[in-house]
Amino acid sequence: MIFNKYMCLVLSAVSFILTIPHAAAYDPMDPNGNITLKWDVKSWTSDGYVAVVTMNNFQMYRHIMSPGWTLGWVWAKKEVIWSMVGAQAVDQGDCTKFKGNIPHCCKKNPTVVDLLPGVPYNQQIANCCKAGVVASWGQDPSAAVSSFQLSVGRSGTSNKTVRLPKNFTLLGPGPGYTCSQAKIVRSTVFNSPDGRRKTQALMTWNVICTYSQLLASRYPTCCVSMSSFYNPTITPCPTCACGCRDKKKCIVSDSKLSSVVGIHTATKDNTPLLQCTQHMCPIRVHWHVKTNYKQYWRVKITITNFNYRLNYTQWTLVVEHPNLNHITEVFSFVYKPLTPYQSKNDTGLFYGIKFYNDLLKEAGPEGNVQSELILEKNANTFTFKEGWGFPRQVYFNGDECMMPQPDEFPETETETESSRFAGGEFMTIEREEEEEERRPSCCQFSNTCKSASCLLLSPRHRRRAEVMEFKNQANPTHKVDLEVETCCSWSWLKFTFLAVLCCMVLSPAAAYDPLDPTGNITIKWDVMSWTPDGYVAAVTMNNFQMYRQIISPGWTLGWSWQKKEVIWTMVGAQTTEQGDCSKFKAAIPHCCKKTPTVVDLLPGVPYNQQFTNCCKGGVLASWGQDPTASVSAFQVSVGQAGTSNKTVKLPKNFTLFGPGPGYTCGPAKVVPSTVFLTADRRRKTQALMTWNVTCTYSQFLASKNPSCCVSFSSFYNETIVPCPSCACGCHNKKNCIKSDSKLAHKTGINTPKKDNTPLLQCTHHMCPIRVHWHVKLNYKAYWRVKISITNFNYRMNYTEWTLVAQHPNLNNVTQVFSFGYKPLLPYESINDTGMFYGMKFYNDLLMEAGPSGNVQSEVLLQKDQNTFTFKQGWAFPRRVYFNGDECMLPPPDAYPALPNSAHVNSISIFKMAASVLLILFSICFSLS
Ligand SMILES: *[C@@H]1O[C@H](CO)[C@@H](O)[C@H](O)[C@H]1NC(C)=O
Ligand SMILES: *[C@@H]1O[C@H](CO)[C@@H](O)[C@H](O)[C@H]1NC(C)=O
Ligand SMILES: *[C@@H]1O[C@H](CO)[C@@H](O)[C@H](O)[C@H]1NC(C)=O
Ligand SMILES: *[C@@H]1O[C@H](CO)[C@@H](O)[C@H](O)[C@H]1NC(C)=O
Ligand SMILES: *[C@@H]1O[C@H](CO)[C@@H](O)[C@H](O)[C@H]1NC(C)=O
Ligand SMILES: *[C@@H]1O[C@H](CO)[C@@H](O)[C@H](O)[C@H]1NC(C)=O
Repeated sequence: MIFNKYMCLVLSAVSFILTIPHAAAYDPMDPNGNITLKWDVKSWTSDGYVAVVTMNNFQMYRHIMSPGWTLGWVWAKKEVIWSMVGAQAVDQGDCTKFKGNIPHCCKKNPTVVDLLPGVPYNQQIANCCKAGVVASWGQDPSAAVSSFQLSVGRSGTSNKTVRLPKNFTLLGPGPGYTCSQAKIVRSTVFNSPDGRRKTQALMTWNVICTYSQLLASRYPTCCVSMSSFYNPTITPCPTCACGCRDKKKCIVSDSKLSSVVGIHTATKDNTPLLQCTQHMCPIRVHWHVKTNYKQYWRVKITITNFNYRLNYTQWTLVVEHPNLNHITEVFSFVYKPLTPYQSKNDTGLFYGIKFYNDLLKEAGPEGNVQSELILEKNANTFTFKEGWGFPRQVYFNGDECMMPQPDEFPETETETESSRFAGGEFMTIEREEEEEERRPSCCQFSNTCKSASCLLLSPRHRRRAEVMEFKNQANPTHKVDLEVETCCSWSWLKFTFLAVLCCMVLSPAAAYDPLDPTGNITIKWDVMSWTPDGYVAAVTMNNFQMYRQIISPGWTLGWSWQKKEVIWTMVGAQTTEQGDCSKFKAAIPHCCKKTPTVVDLLPGVPYNQQFTNCCKGGVLASWGQDPTASVSAFQVSVGQAGTSNKTVKLPKNFTLFGPGPGYTCGPAKVVPSTVFLTADRRRKTQALMTWNVTCTYSQFLASKNPSCCVSFSSFYNETIVPCPSCACGCHNKKNCIKSDSKLAHKTGINTPKKDNTPLLQCTHHMCPIRVHWHVKLNYKAYWRVKISITNFNYRMNYTEWTLVAQHPNLNNVTQVFSFGYKPLLPYESINDTGMFYGMKFYNDLLMEAGPSGNVQSEVLLQKDQNTFTFKQGWAFPRRVYFNGDECMLPPPDAYPALPNSAHVNSISIFKMAASVLLILFSICFSLS
């Protein structure tokens, strides 16, 4: 059976290869695609001519990547190249015949390559010196050109006598291009830089080169795998999709070889060094049909590099799918529709965002890029049947990828449960996406105790370090254990102390948030009418907090009545308990309790129970994120109450849970009556009476311990600074779940508890949320930070999460990828605080602990030369809030230091200071 399937796939691979020749030199997605070389003779010299050669890449999506193009030709006679500007011949050849002036190249078949960027000014000409890298026309027409100038000798000196060079060859950088013979065309007309004068080449000839994938490689170079939410199986890439001839030399991904230094060095002929996979392709494109909304559906695309020896710069991906004519949104990639034929619009070009993911790194944890698309359904054609949800053709970097056989596409009906685990590949994919994320936590586990910052940045490095350690130690396991034992106790003390300190620091700030000083939730009661025994009031809850929202299961509002009031009816909300209404005979009130507790209704209640802004399950957005969604309202009809503004008694002792504790509400206060605009905005009405209650939040009341922590790392230092140990208190340590234990996969583990008690993954910090801030790159004028938020709580999906960070450079944010961003200006004068939040339909939901329990973004910041420094932890945030709760930061002395700073000293000083404080503390405690 297995053998048959294997044979079938090999056969299909062969048949795929056989089908390509038809497409040779003709690409149905880009029928006019070609590279045009134009020689413009600018002047005739005494023994030849000076020409500018311009290479235009007119291919929509096939670019020439590093190490760039190589152009060759054969001279018709005895021509030589006297000089060259903007490029060079790789071989000078035999110039022994020349005495005084030595030509640049005397070969009959010169081979020319581009110069590298940064050559001296006098060797440059326009569009030269890009190391031979030429963008595709679809991606960037202005970068799709390369040129150089050459002075040819011993040649014809007029348009009658000149002989055109012959037999052009072009490598880009590998084989694949076939070039036509040179043909004389109409002389090119040049515009002078000021656009006011036209000049003309003395003579022009053209060479057209077209690409054929078959010439480039006998085998495909990429493959496609598929999966979908409606079927648990994964359709992997066909076996040996790219030929299995490299199978012997491949490297198992977790073998030590993959971390050997030098393995990533590209060889001259670009032979790949592949990670061992069943498909043996350097590139896999995974197409996952992720969600099915009513009007939209969503696809996740992941491109993974399995070649240890190649970084793909400016990669492109072309996809053909009938629904691409209704693409609504593309996250994280740039998208351009390709319309090869005017009539069809089913093909599109994806490519990376500059500075963000236009570089697809070599095989390893970072060797993948991802994007999601939202497509609008066309009701006439949309179906998930017969593989409709999957692409027809996929091209990576201009090469067609091998697709699975159509009968292998994920089918609509779910298959038997047992096949769920057949998709081993699926696990791999998730793991790849996760690898980077998990790294800090697993590092922390093994290394916590060596010092506050002993962790190595990349798994590659980590492995190397472990290997070294094992060599030096007869019984390494024992050694490590010992170390864990001894210093855990110290670091535990140290950080528990810090956690306590953190709470102490927080408590004076109770009910006052320096990043949002006026933040509050205001509850407004507008009496709309008086009734025979009371009043009808509209109650509106406005969340004026910039970044603290109320998440599911929503708010709970309580108060106590001053007298014997009852609630006759409620619209848009309900009380949780009716209470004792036995005194009432005919009409029974909605609630007779002295202290009613009100919750919002769920979305979708019958129309007659709704009220404007009601029925959102109690979820309120923050003001900064979405002011229109930061309001909730209901109507209440109160009986046995005062019937005029003189006799009415305001309810008192308001309590608000949002959804947990943390809010303190002031007393109700009568304020000027609210003025309402009618729906047509042409008339104003006024409430008969209005009172307000203001509730403010204090993190200290919400929880004694922080609920999130921050870890740091940076490119300039290999250590990772983990979250402080027990940052969120270790009281849950006993019932935490190890991430690799079977428990974590038990059904029902993700069901939230009524009181929202978390079920945490075991970590040394025991926080439900970790925010990781990684200083990723340092450009000349910019620097880049990667932010990842990881959820360690198995019982909670954070909807509409927010992250607030304070950092002096946030006044110069250039770009935020994948997250929404809003600067917060708590005080007019400083601009160092900003709020990040997820993009709707994309990453506004932070899933429960597990492989998808994280969201990531990168931020590009422009440097202010006066303040910018990497020293003293400047690059790290001052404060971080997740969902409005301040996160525990590592102690400042643990921040990644520049490699040359004296680290040892600071630690010992810190230890000393900490122990002194610890003693002080124990005195305090024993006194109290
Ligand atoms: C080469 O590409 C250009 C631009 O798309 C097009 O005008 C020209 O016709 C193409 N030449 C050939 C021979 O396909
Ligand atoms: C050569 O140049 C002459 C003028 O110098 C012009 O008339 C003729 O058309 C040119 N021939 C070609 C093939 O460009
Ligand atoms: C150019 O190539 C053709 C066919 O490949 C060959 O016959 C011819 O001799 C070559 N011309 C030169 C000048 O090398
Ligand atoms: C890929 O780029 C990274 C830096 O961005 C570099 O460290 C690595 O050596 C490169 N790998 C290859 C194969 O060129
Ligand atoms: C093709 O579809 C895109 C939307 O995906 C649309 O913006 C574009 O105008 C369409 N082009 C044509 C020629 O229909
Ligand atoms: C509550 O927030 C609103 C809007 O920011 C503000 O105008 C008001 O002063 C705040 N109230 C208190 C008591 O801080």
